[in-house]
Amino acid sequence: MENKIKKMPKHVAIIMDGNGRWALKQGLARLEGHRVGVNRSEEIIDCAQEMGIKYLTLYAFSMENWKRPNEEVDTLMMLLKGFLDAKEEKMRKNGICFETIGQISFLPKEVYETIVRVKKSTQGGEKMTLILALSYGSRDEILRAIKQTVLEVKNGKIAHEAIDETFFANCLDTKGIPDPDLVIRTSGEHRISNFLLWQLAYAELFFTDCFWPDFTENHFKNAIEEYQLRERRYGLTSKQIEGTHQK
Ligand code: IPE
Ligand code: IPE
Ligand code: MG
Repeated sequence: MENKIKKMPKHVAIIMDGNGRWALKQGLARLEGHRVGVNRSEEIIDCAQEMGIKYLTLYAFSMENWKRPNEEVDTLMMLLKGFLDAKEEKMRKNGICFETIGQISFLPKEVYETIVRVKKSTQGGEKMTLILALSYGSRDEILRAIKQTVLEVKNGKIAHEAIDETFFANCLDTKGIPDPDLVIRTSGEHRISNFLLWQLAYAELFFTDCFWPDFTENHFKNAIEEYQLRERRYGLTSKQIEGTHQK
């Protein structure tokens, strides 16, 4: 008898790409694309939460994005602060715990302080953890983790033979957060762009041509449905996986 329960991903991560091209396509400035993109993020956060997803990571600003024109960087920072100020209360009410990964100390002081405040006021939210990747680069994160590991060996806190995947994962910004089950990238690009290189080892990847400002709740639900059709084998055979289903 067919008895497969449709499994909800516990952690979905999204590379929200295509704001600039979306805007240019309709004769608008790139910055307008970012503005509409923020509204989309809110819609997807609400949808993920309603669907019972426990962790949602949104790639909002990469380490490499600092090299964009100043005006664009400033607008992105302003939009980020505006989003957090406007949604803090809603997040608190909805039981959303706000977290970040990346080097937030690089952000402008007022943005940094807003982040710290919202993290504090939403702490303990149990419905869903919303993680924004800000000033985030995966190689940078891995290097910082290596430096921390070396230091702990040097200080005698751990023997080098005892370093294992769990120890190392706990040195990353994502400490305590399960690895993403599903990664969605919008805008037709088929790359990872320095996002969660360690954590995506066994994630399912979903690419769509849709630009982020056009990505609706329905697109999100489609991505989840596609995920539910996939068989995650983790190096095993299908038969072995079926065996584990029956247990
Ligand atoms: C994603 O959209 C938002 C950020 C990277 C901050 P882009 O700004 O990269 O838009 P495209 O890829 O240039 O269209
Ligand atoms: C990735 O998008 C980063 C974010 C979505 C924040 P980019 O637009 O920066 O990536 P590339 O440059 O196309 O790889
Ligand atoms: Mg882009």
